[in-house]
Amino acid sequence: MADFKYIIVGSGIAGLYAALLASEQGSVLLLTKGGLQDCNTRYAQGGIAAAIGAGDSPALHLEDTLGAGAGLCDVEAARILTDNAPRAIADLVRLGVIFDTDHGEVALGREGAHRLARVLHAGGDATGAHIETVLARLVQARPIRIDEYSAAVGLVVDARSGKVTAVDAVQVRNGQTKRRYTGEAIVLATGGAGRLFRHTTNPEVATGDGVALAFNAGAAVADMEFCQFHPTALRFPGAPAFLISEAVRGEGAVLLTGDGDAFMARYHPMKDLAPRDIVSRAIVTEMQRAATDHVLLDMTHLPEQWLITRFPTIYHTCLQNGVDITREPVPVAPAAHYMMGGVLTNSWGETNLPGLFACGEVACNGLHGANRLASNSLLEALVFARRVVERAGSGIWEGIRFDDPLILDQPGLLNADAPTLTAENLVQTMWNKVGIVRDGVGLEEAVAIFNSWAGSLPASEDLTVQSLANQVLVGRLMAHAAQARTESRGAHFRLDFPAPRPEWVRRIVMVAHPPGNPFPSES
Ligand code: SIN
Repeated sequence: MADFKYIIVGSGIAGLYAALLASEQGSVLLLTKGGLQDCNTRYAQGGIAAAIGAGDSPALHLEDTLGAGAGLCDVEAARILTDNAPRAIADLVRLGVIFDTDHGEVALGREGAHRLARVLHAGGDATGAHIETVLARLVQARPIRIDEYSAAVGLVVDARSGKVTAVDAVQVRNGQTKRRYTGEAIVLATGGAGRLFRHTTNPEVATGDGVALAFNAGAAVADMEFCQFHPTALRFPGAPAFLISEAVRGEGAVLLTGDGDAFMARYHPMKDLAPRDIVSRAIVTEMQRAATDHVLLDMTHLPEQWLITRFPTIYHTCLQNGVDITREPVPVAPAAHYMMGGVLTNSWGETNLPGLFACGEVACNGLHGANRLASNSLLEALVFARRVVERAGSGIWEGIRFDDPLILDQPGLLNADAPTLTAENLVQTMWNKVGIVRDGVGLEEAVAIFNSWAGSLPASEDLTVQSLANQVLVGRLMAHAAQARTESRGAHFRLDFPAPRPEWVRRIVMVAHPPGNPFPSES
């Protein structure tokens, strides 16, 4: 008999919502490596997409999702997402989330690559924080065991059945005591990996742990070459790379060069609301042309009071950093924002390891393809967390099969001149060589550096070392996948292969061991 029916790892929107639903079925342990609300969800500004407006439909939302995904979306998963969006919103409202209204109607914003206004928001630009607060309160009121500051450091796989049966977790604030918890269903909801890059909109906890845990246990990962760079993070000396929501451009803000050229008109018919990858690369081109580290985002033509009410978080944060958005343009530059890739799942959140599920940013069911449509991520977490719990509760297990995976076991190509492995060198290597604009030479160097680092890591129980090891593994997966994909598509752009290639309308799946090999850990 397992200690818990569900063990959920992570406390962003996916983990909290899964825990709430799961608690209707049985006992739940929620593990989170920080405080309950230390997660990426809290920083989501723009909102949550759903086809609820006049003239909109799930079919149109699906078309925009597939368009952004650049030919690589799993159409079934994307359809499940867009069909279930109105229901997910209704459930949030039932749970107590209050969305912003305009003259008594739900206010709908626009963001990049959406042809219609369909983005709901709360507290102006504090959508994620509002949702997180409501869900966290509900979870705390349920009979759910919540272990804060408890880092999952290993998954236990039964050698005979291949089933994931337990999680090893370390109490971060309690002398790092390790404990093993058994569960009937283990759900990874650990979020993304933006902290692997020098510039990111993500908080400190976004270090890719879930991908590393799953991969080390024998789970397949997919689409690791696709990392989304948000075009507009605050770039101001001494300020954090704070997100300036795309919703600002949706309301009419315009990107400018230092000498006032509204350059996006030269790059795409949708101008400032072109897909994110296009806007991010256009900004990089303009920054290189002007030899500067930022462009400008101008919203000074929008009414002052309206701007402050619609974007209070952005207004106050910029002001604290010395920029008054109502009077002067904001210096911005792209920053790593969202991982399209992750632990390979089917549309029920099942992985290739029985008993192991994943949902939210850590998971990759293929719905985003090569590039996520704006404001589909909070939605994804809700829709697929619900499906994970439905499936785990049903006792059915289909799992996921894949052909021809890339096997990442031996170190491979090494770099004798690899810089010393430090957190700073890691994020700089990712930014310079696996960033917004890539090429074969840089990727080969990155692969060799990460291989060398992987080979030099000491086995250690220390959490800081383990976290660095996780980041090395995730960086290595990203670099290998990006090197393998000899084309450009969506968020993956290579100077040496600047166009999409038909033979690459397929996904890269990676595993640690050839299928059928013994599992790496045993119960
Ligand atoms: C934003 O507000 O620009 C971010 C929304 C998202 O990443 O979907």
